[in-house]
Amino acid sequence: MLENLTNRAIALLLAGMLLMSNGDIPGCSSVTALALSQSSVSAVHRRNVVVVGGGPVGLATALTLSRPPHSCNVTVLERTDGDTSVATYNPARSYLYNINPRGLRWVDSVPEVATKLDDRGVVVRGGFGRFCIVPADPSVAIPEPTGVTVAGTPPESQKRNTRATSSISKSVWIPRHQMVELLQECCEEQLYNDSKGVGSIQVCMGKEFTSMVDTAETALPESQKGPSITVQCRDGSMYGADLVVAADGIDSAVRAQLRDPAESSSSSWLASKARSFVVRRYRSPATGLKLKALQLPPNFTMIDHDGTLVTTQAQNLYSIRGTNQGTRDFASLGLLPMKDPDMVRPANIITRPDHELWKLADGSVVKAWFQSNWPRLNWDELVDDKEWERFVKAKTTTFPYCQYVPGSVVVAPNESAGVVLVGDACHAFPPDIGQGINAGLQDVVALDLALQDREIDLCQDSVPPSWSPSASAPTLGQGLLRYQRNRRAEHGALIRLARFGSPYQYRQPWIRDRIGRVCWSANVAFRLLLNKATFGWVPPAAILLAQNVNLSYRQVMRRADTTARVLQSTVLAAVAWLLVRKFSLL
Ligand SMILES: Cc1cc2nc3c(=O)[nH]c(=O)nc-3n(C[C@H](O)[C@H](O)[C@H](O)COP(=O)(O)OP(=O)(O)OC[C@H]3O[C@@H](n4cnc5c(N)ncnc54)[C@H](O)[C@@H]3O)c2cc1C
Ligand SMILES: *[C@@H]1O[C@H](CO)[C@@H](O)[C@H](O)[C@H]1NC(C)=O
Ligand SMILES: *[C@@H]1O[C@H](CO)[C@@H](O)[C@H](O)[C@H]1NC(C)=O
Ligand SMILES: *[C@@H]1O[C@H](CO)[C@@H](O)[C@H](O)[C@H]1NC(C)=O
Ligand SMILES: *[C@@H]1O[C@H](CO)[C@@H](O)[C@H](O)[C@H]1NC(C)=O
Ligand SMILES: *[C@@H]1O[C@H](CO)[C@@H](O)[C@H](O)[C@H]1NC(C)=O
Repeated sequence: MLENLTNRAIALLLAGMLLMSNGDIPGCSSVTALALSQSSVSAVHRRNVVVVGGGPVGLATALTLSRPPHSCNVTVLERTDGDTSVATYNPARSYLYNINPRGLRWVDSVPEVATKLDDRGVVVRGGFGRFCIVPADPSVAIPEPTGVTVAGTPPESQKRNTRATSSISKSVWIPRHQMVELLQECCEEQLYNDSKGVGSIQVCMGKEFTSMVDTAETALPESQKGPSITVQCRDGSMYGADLVVAADGIDSAVRAQLRDPAESSSSSWLASKARSFVVRRYRSPATGLKLKALQLPPNFTMIDHDGTLVTTQAQNLYSIRGTNQGTRDFASLGLLPMKDPDMVRPANIITRPDHELWKLADGSVVKAWFQSNWPRLNWDELVDDKEWERFVKAKTTTFPYCQYVPGSVVVAPNESAGVVLVGDACHAFPPDIGQGINAGLQDVVALDLALQDREIDLCQDSVPPSWSPSASAPTLGQGLLRYQRNRRAEHGALIRLARFGSPYQYRQPWIRDRIGRVCWSANVAFRLLLNKATFGWVPPAAILLAQNVNLSYRQVMRRADTTARVLQSTVLAAVAWLLVRKFSLL
């Protein structure tokens, strides 16, 4: 069973890794320095929304808020340049997202996105896909990949309908750059199709947010004042917004301004909640790990125990163990599922910063190191000198702290303007629990429901009642506060899950890590045993509970805590019983 659990943990571990791209998106849809538009009195008042950050969560928010019933006009400001296009993406620097039913709940709300995602991603049902742990010792046979098979094209009736198949939970693997690219396409198509009741979306590249001010406090002549908030970019351009969405990632500049307002604007409502934007940060055993990826050719082969060659397949996961076992030289190669069988296969190495591999400064030395650590691969054939040099020079990616901010909105006193945080701007953590993108997309669903004044119920089968505008339509401020109430507790629980859920899956090599890993596995195994022994009355460990998409992160952690309390009271009761016995004997 332990081995089983370990395998599961490995699948999860792999679930939290990355492969290609630098997150660049092709060119802006032509908006230059669109300034504040004089709000002409129109029949329908469309809210103006500025989304800061054109990552997956920012683009998802743009799509949702531009559609009915919100029908806002949305401008997305993305810092990266349009001309560093997808064509030049670096395959060694991209995350591979595993979009699970939590994230698919949003995906399914935009059918165009769902179709493209099914086409371009690797769709798996009931797990993470087939995986294979390749033993380090070349005299041991390479096992067949195990686990659920990758789903082919699902029957038409089930396509794009997770609700119909929620019991066999579906998830989709897709590299970050492809996810961003497909969301961008959907934004563009929406712009050109110009359907009824849909607001506009402008995606502007090369626009770095620097600050925002309450328009009322600007020196602009009254006639030129647009919506409530004026957003400024590094290049001097300005945008007016009723709602600013901060989707600018882990080092959010919007969040930083809410926390540390400039001297001049410290009396503004924008600065009124500064204390709730102080980042709460916790170290997990995965914090600070370093990652680099080596590019292997598609369909590369491994040498089996009898000298035959085993061909790898794009849609399988692999963990290729190395022969070194030391605290500074152990390493394993991790490969995630890819759709395209002709694409290079990035192999990730994730380990502690004091690892000897990070100290090697020469391509040929690194090659020799790989040759001795992974004798199953024919490195002379697989990787050329240029790639070894690239690998040596490439920067490592460092896994972040587990962090969140308790506040996620600020609202103007008249409740008709505000700022909201979504995605990594609000909560970030190392990738081991594979929830980064999914938690971000859940924020978008929550915001969608909150702004409609609907209960935020993210359970799979809660069929949303059709929306109808009513006299009691909430103000923007009421919606935002509802969002914050729901998210605050959810994000706190998510961060606890991230800290304790599955932090040892990278097989960190320090002694401390190895002990931690054994304790973690024992804990998970013990809880599972208890769960089985009590016929499900005692819940299993958090990381297993989190796989149930019907549970909010809060429910997951509450249940896991119940088990902890049961265990504590059992131990206490046992001690008490022993004491009583001892003393009664005296
Ligand atoms: C090493 C690593 C591996 C990961 N692996 C996984 C994984 O396997 N699965 C998973 O679900 N998640 C993973 N994650 C987490 C995942 O990357 C994030 O959760 C997800 O990308 C969050 O999306 P986002 O849109 O909120 O932020 P981001 O993806 O960070 O996007 C933010 C965007 O805002 C832009 N921006 C930033 N500042 C400004 C500014 N001032 N003005 C304008 N634009 C700005 C940035 O250029 C960027 O495009 C990983 C993270 C790391 C670090
Ligand atoms: C919203 O965008 C549409 C199309 O670009 C434009 O015609 C309309 O004036 C905009 N509305 C507001 C309030 O800016
Ligand atoms: C989630 O709820 C639906 C409907 O109640 C149920 O069919 C499904 O099996 C549940 N999923 C899990 C993982 O429990
Ligand atoms: C929008 O336009 C694109 C091409 O411009 C087309 O492929 C797509 O089907 C259209 N979508 C809708 C919903 O009309
Ligand atoms: C609400 O307050 C904002 C910020 O002070 C201001 O810009 C806006 O004009 C006000 N809106 C209304 C409808 O009063
Ligand atoms: C890899 O193998 C698949 C079949 O498994 C094949 O379709 C594809 O063309 C191969 N790619 C390369 C680059 O050989």
